[in-house]
Amino acid sequence: MNANLTREEAVRLLQKYNQEPFHLLHALTVEGVMRWYAKELGYEEDADFWGMAGLLHDIDFEQYPDQHCVKAEELLKEAQAGDDLIHAVCSHGYGICSQVKPEHLMEKVLFASDELTGLIGAAAKMRPSKSCQDMEVSSLKKKFKDKRFAAGCSRDIIRQGAEMLGWELNELFEKTILAMRSCETSVQEELDRLS
Ligand SMILES: [Fe+2]
Repeated sequence: MNANLTREEAVRLLQKYNQEPFHLLHALTVEGVMRWYAKELGYEEDADFWGMAGLLHDIDFEQYPDQHCVKAEELLKEAQAGDDLIHAVCSHGYGICSQVKPEHLMEKVLFASDELTGLIGAAAKMRPSKSCQDMEVSSLKKKFKDKRFAAGCSRDIIRQGAEMLGWELNELFEKTILAMRSCETSVQEELDRLS
């Protein structure tokens, strides 16, 4: 798999189209989560690629929300990104704003974890620790079931993602909490540097 971009180029590209700290935080978080998943699922040699798909998956969302996952193709082509990366980015909106179906395991993980990282991040903010380091699956499950909590995080998409992967929701929750724990500190440090 070839992204055709260095991480430095990808970060520059991200910043070209994203200024909001919220969007930068989300991009860096999904990058870290994807890197964790690559290692967890036996794709360590592709961890840079998995991470880059996470870093750039919402590249077009801040400036072109109405063309999400469509404008991305143009922006990434302009930046000479590889086709694999473009496919992965566009597929994360499958059935919502894109016709590109997640095929590779990495694309299914991106689809499943993107929305869930939002829910975990919102749940972490409510904790005394303000962190997911001490978050248990049971408390995340409660937040998942409470439809008024972080109502913008679609439970249906999270469910669909788990189904795509052939995982129980619990497994997706457990793994994604671990993934977010693994990068929480480094993401915050990098966000402070970037913004
Ligand atoms: Fe996203």
